[in-house]
Amino acid sequence: MARPRTPRALARADALPVVSVVAERSALVDSAVVALAVPVRQGAEAPAPGAGASEVADAFGLELADELAHQKATGAPGEVVEVPVSDEGRAAESLLLVGTGDGSPSDLRRAGAQLARRAGSKPALATTLVADEDPESVRAAVEGLLAGAYRVPRSGLTASGERLRDVRLLLAASGPRRAAAEAAVARAVATGRALALARDLINSPADVVGPVELAEEAQRVGAAAGLEVHVRDEAALAAEGFGGLLAVGSGSRRPPRLVEMRYEPETERRVPHVVLVGKGICFDSGGLSLKPRDAMVSMKTDMAGAGAVLGVMSAVRELGVRVRVTGLLAIAENLPDGAAYRPGDVVRHYDGTTVEVLNTDAEGRMVLADALGYADAQLAPDAVVDIATLTGAASLGLGKRHGALYATDERLAEALLAASERGGERLWRMPLVEDYRSALDSPVADLAHVPRDPHVGGGSITAALFLREFTGTRAWAHLDVAGPARADADDADVNKGGTGFGVRLLLRWLEGLGAPVRRG
Ligand code: BES
Ligand code: MN
Ligand code: ZN
Repeated sequence: MARPRTPRALARADALPVVSVVAERSALVDSAVVALAVPVRQGAEAPAPGAGASEVADAFGLELADELAHQKATGAPGEVVEVPVSDEGRAAESLLLVGTGDGSPSDLRRAGAQLARRAGSKPALATTLVADEDPESVRAAVEGLLAGAYRVPRSGLTASGERLRDVRLLLAASGPRRAAAEAAVARAVATGRALALARDLINSPADVVGPVELAEEAQRVGAAAGLEVHVRDEAALAAEGFGGLLAVGSGSRRPPRLVEMRYEPETERRVPHVVLVGKGICFDSGGLSLKPRDAMVSMKTDMAGAGAVLGVMSAVRELGVRVRVTGLLAIAENLPDGAAYRPGDVVRHYDGTTVEVLNTDAEGRMVLADALGYADAQLAPDAVVDIATLTGAASLGLGKRHGALYATDERLAEALLAASERGGERLWRMPLVEDYRSALDSPVADLAHVPRDPHVGGGSITAALFLREFTGTRAWAHLDVAGPARADADDADVNKGGTGFGVRLLLRWLEGLGAPVRRG
């Protein structure tokens, strides 16, 4: 019987600042804003104040070159120098001089994020940060702003209401350039919302977001985003043979779910079909192969893959994605109940493959195997990409800021690497080493889910090799995001806690698929 508890709602940040575009420079110094920000490029000799700097300097009687020199500013990306300004009937309290480096999208992303952090508790900010930038840089800067402004929802007496609520962007260009900049802002806002949704879900405690609640949230989000959503409960999973999801979920009183979210672009043409699969372990205790105490603390974030896919699905229509996209969320809770699956059990997956369980803490691949097999058998995808906090080994190798990419298709790998560059989320391609495959041979089943011999090493690689067995002949890529899904501290566009890693790169990738090819 479930223990009674005080109901708590899923905390949603909903707290992203509203971003609006203003046309007139006068809006900079006349409005109710309390912080103004202007860009400063990193120059060969001295930092170079950019758009809006001279107007602001005139309005407040400042000599910006002196201010920059006095504070030893360089214009390095993300550097923020604060100059107090006297009020004289205006609301402005401070002028922020934001380093934009060389003006590249990655420098502007960092600048936007650091600006949002520094503006932190000021309710309103007006800035010329992107006034002179090309659309790709505008998008990066605004995505950075929104990512940096994100605050983890707090509950209880310590909840804080202080936050940045209103960002006004001055866009200088007129005509087609201005239209392109405005479109870039709109795309950045859609992406920023998707990212915040993923972060909210990942940061929510597992007692609030269990498998059922996560599936319900997917239904709500899908309905609001114009998607068809189909949820399989434990009875449907049993009837259709999803043995991996059922095995992992059997140790929890909260049953597993498989969520299928379908997006169809508005077109008469036949378009490619992409399937995204997310690992959605709402809490990973390790199961009977229980994790050590410290390793368990952060395991509410083990549904970060599903959170990222849900975030992506929430924005595909708004971003006008031109291909069909199906999101599969493989959701369960891994706990050591009396009914839990055990080491030594043999599980039959959706595609009929039998798997010998050796370590119940390798649960992610068990739920993904079902979803991948289902995608291959039923959905006829042109490409399948899964995203999962799959192995500690991936973060041992690549650290906390790079995701591991595996792929059976070169074009897919190249496209994802390019999208990751543009989205500011780094991937590193890893090899599917054929020699290691035999480590997954089992004497009692078609496959073992982990190597019996611990000396094989390459834990992220053997996990990928296991997943590959369920992908048939599909073009498939796997993102092991155990490292970057969670951050230990705020750093530019990354927040302490769940980062939502994957949302931006997957959206960039999807936006680039299907005709017509657009640039910029
Ligand atoms: N969810 C973990 C992986 C993980 C570890 C994510 C640390 C984020 C931070 C996964 O289910 C797991 O437990 N993997 C095992 C695999 C092993 C049992 C083969 C691991 O990495 O130790
Ligand atoms: Mn585990
Ligand atoms: Zn896990």
